[in-house]
Amino acid sequence: MGDMGKIRNIVILTGAGISAESGIDTFRSPGGIWERFDPDEVATAEAFARDPDKLLGFYDMRRGTLDDKHPNPAHHALGRLDAEWPGELLIVTQNVDDLHERGGARRVLHMHGEHLNALCTACDGRMPWRATLADRPACPDCGERALRPDVVLFGEVPYHMDAIFAALRQADLFVSIGTSGAVYPAAGFVQTARDLGAQTLELNLEPSEGSTWFEESRLGPASELVPAWAGEMLSGG
Ligand code: APR
Repeated sequence: MGDMGKIRNIVILTGAGISAESGIDTFRSPGGIWERFDPDEVATAEAFARDPDKLLGFYDMRRGTLDDKHPNPAHHALGRLDAEWPGELLIVTQNVDDLHERGGARRVLHMHGEHLNALCTACDGRMPWRATLADRPACPDCGERALRPDVVLFGEVPYHMDAIFAALRQADLFVSIGTSGAVYPAAGFVQTARDLGAQTLELNLEPSEGSTWFEESRLGPASELVPAWAGEMLSGG
């Protein structure tokens, strides 16, 4: 990385790779979720309209896998960095698990939503939700049996985009961790950050589709790369 002295505001983008060592499947690694399920059947707005039971069942299955998963050293390292970094810091995660929060991070935006929330399509209410949804439980707010996972499906608009671009405009450093760079708009954040003058760093198991946009790319498991990088940041270089 370039001049560490000039880094005050950091934006960190994370993807499924940061949770891989916690035992949560990624999407596009060998054996990943999209090798076993067709996203057109279970993860698009059209799929939800066409066969809601199938989509609700898919997300019930994925939500259920979270119970015995725990933050790994990468999540804890970002939690510590969030707590101790003197400047601005924002974690923009594509992940719908809660491991960043359980790893101690506070400044987290879930641009693809959260497994552990439900959204009511009747009253727009949002509520914490750990149970199933395919059995069509009643919305606690309005009583309608119209709850869905509060996750952003393909074809829907990601959450918090205004806040994300506001943070990118102020960023001195943009770090991408554990994402394949396959899905926009997240995959385009590095170009925006570079165009706005930020330094850029990628921490990933293998080169992502956007690796060439990064000034520096470190390859390896997040549980090793992230604590090392966070330590560098907190020790000033
Ligand atoms: N440490 C670091 N990186 C890892 C590790 C690890 N232990 N294991 C895997 N990776 C990397 C892979 O090399 C890959 O580049 O994490 C990346 C995971 O890529 P994807 O499976 O495509 O996940 P992600 O980039 O988060 O997907 C983006 O696509 O399907 C949608 O909404 C879904 O949010 C998701 C989005």
